Amino acid sequence: MIRLQKYISECGIASRRKAEELITNGKVSVNGKIVKELGTKINESDAVVVNGKLLKKDVKKYYLLYKPREVISSSKDEKGRKTVVNLIKTTDRIYPIGRLDYDTTGIILLTNDGELSNLLTHPSHNVEKEYLAKVKGFFKKEDANKLSDGVILNGKKTKKALFKMDRYDKKSDSSYVKVIITEGRNHQVKDMFALLGYEVLKLKRERYAFLNLSGLKSGEYRQLTIKEVKQLYSLK
Ligand code: URA
Repeated sequence: MIRLQKYISECGIASRRKAEELITNGKVSVNGKIVKELGTKINESDAVVVNGKLLKKDVKKYYLLYKPREVISSSKDEKGRKTVVNLIKTTDRIYPIGRLDYDTTGIILLTNDGELSNLLTHPSHNVEKEYLAKVKGFFKKEDANKLSDGVILNGKKTKKALFKMDRYDKKSDSSYVKVIITEGRNHQVKDMFALLGYEVLKLKRERYAFLNLSGLKSGEYRQLTIKEVKQLYSLK
């Protein structure tokens, strides 16, 4: 049960005060009956009509997508390119939490929950993001140490991270490097490698906090469980 004025304001059509005014002015009905009483409690399944319009509560949705290459991490693209939102079958107004580059693949979360999105993308929030990067040439141990300790990027030192050689592929003369960062600056991984002269040939995000891509193929997605959403909210 929820107070009628609270319900109306949570639907986003009016502030709590304005909602109270609407009620006392007889503009609100519940299940077909005008309700003028301010304390009235309703169920979320009740039909609440304000000024002749049925309210729909914005149900919070959370998706985990395995982003393919050549898809843009926003809700709209002025160049008409495919977006991560286009890949998810929903009419809800969802948007990605953070970004992956057009040519980066891997895990990305989408939601219509602004509170969670703000929380996870706030710079003080140290959400671990793990990548597998394929870089041109042999990735030297001393460079791994430098990048892990932090380098000056756009005038500001990067936070402690992990850059670790996974394997070197002699045939293509390239290295696969595991990267774990907690910041989310634009193009951060590529720019950090570039600073030491490495070109990133491929980049895949394999983990976001405790979430990974298990069970999903490129382009596939699933909804998060309530437990996972709670866990994201409780991350420090
Ligand atoms: N760092 C990058 O450079 N690109 C991404 O897409 C994500 C992190």
